[in-house]
Amino acid sequence: MWSSRLMFVLAAAGSAVGLGNIWRFPYIAGANGGGSFVLVYLLCIAIIGIPIMTSEILLGRAGRQSPIHSMRDLARQSGASPMWQLIGWMGALAGFMILSFYGVIAGWAMAYIVSSAQGTFTGVDAAQATAIFNGFIGDPFEVVAWQTVFMVMTVVIVARGVGEGIETAVKYLMPALFILLIALVVYAMFSGHFMEGVRFLFSFHRGELGWDGVLMAMGQAFFTLSLGMAAIMTYGAYMPKDASIVGTATTIALLDTLVAVLAALVIFPLVFANGLESSSGPGLMFVTLPLAFGHMTGGQIFGTVFFILVTFAAVTSSISIMEPAVAWLVERLYVPRKWAAIVVGGVAWALGLGTAFSFNIWSDVTILPGKSFFDTMDFVSNNVMLPLGGMLIALFAGWFLDAKIRNDELALSPGMFAIWRVLVRFVAPAAVFVVFVMTFV
Ligand code: PFF
Repeated sequence: MWSSRLMFVLAAAGSAVGLGNIWRFPYIAGANGGGSFVLVYLLCIAIIGIPIMTSEILLGRAGRQSPIHSMRDLARQSGASPMWQLIGWMGALAGFMILSFYGVIAGWAMAYIVSSAQGTFTGVDAAQATAIFNGFIGDPFEVVAWQTVFMVMTVVIVARGVGEGIETAVKYLMPALFILLIALVVYAMFSGHFMEGVRFLFSFHRGELGWDGVLMAMGQAFFTLSLGMAAIMTYGAYMPKDASIVGTATTIALLDTLVAVLAALVIFPLVFANGLESSSGPGLMFVTLPLAFGHMTGGQIFGTVFFILVTFAAVTSSISIMEPAVAWLVERLYVPRKWAAIVVGGVAWALGLGTAFSFNIWSDVTILPGKSFFDTMDFVSNNVMLPLGGMLIALFAGWFLDAKIRNDELALSPGMFAIWRVLVRFVAPAAVFVVFVMTFV
């Protein structure tokens, strides 16, 4: 059990805030043209993300076990089909896929701690920052070495269990990251291209975004809020009974969105100030931020601290990606927590080699048409499995969950409850369904 409501909020926010906000949101928004993408993304957070997050916390707290077992028991108590356990299984599978590439990218961030500390970025221009990045990801040994360090860190923390590790990391480091991001936004304000960045992010043009862009925005909303794979459900299982579910979910979503927007407000002004390409892909953050650090006073220290904090933000997320599978192994196979963490981490690490190699020796290999190993993992997990899982979670919570269990957990006023029910029963599942149909059919 988390020691207090605040700790649950911090841990769930720690899960939500991660590479998804600082690394993925800016590059995906950039690749999809900015403004319209951001608008759809914000809409998805509000009408799909928050309702599904309340559902996950609700199911987790009512079930109080790993997702697979919580779903099995809740389905039984509600007189619904045991097939609902599938949500837990799919979540564990999506977790492996996400963790596999998450470890690689977090490894990049760790490598950048060392580069920053060594002063590698001092005075670099855009071409040099790009060359440094390409040189680094082009070296499979270095990338895998850092990926390994990161995965070992994750396994060690997860092996020690909820509480100690997670709580301390989140309590001090997340606020620090937040403050540093704000300082960077102030720096970006003086880049001379701040308004260009703002306009890129917030000006909406009709018809600019196709349905595949909408799918990407929806996938990003799920990924960034850690939804659809029962990670938040797992954390919900440890949430104290007296905390408000809807209030907590809304707080977490707002915090998470704020961090993503701040990160983008740092990155895009720098992109425009340095004549970089907004649609350049996964390297966006790793090229733009060194430019900033390379030119500011104290940038060497600032950059080092920043990448340390990004690494911690990544760890507080990666432990939650791992937790559903680990919790299940412990409950089901009675293996010690330590071994469960090692097995899950090991499998994700091995799968992650495919992502590590996508940027060097396997850069020509495609799995889905036109998609590298990394792009395939990312696409299938974030854009397909998470929304599908989230839709099933909302459907179960909205239509099938025993009314008494639901009302006990939610404790909403009649008006709020009516809104909640419409969102969870109809709006959120239908929105996912429509986006799927429009993109894939
Ligand atoms: N929300 C995390 C991020 O934005 O980096 C990633 C994540 C964590 C995805 C936990 C899924 C998950 F279950």
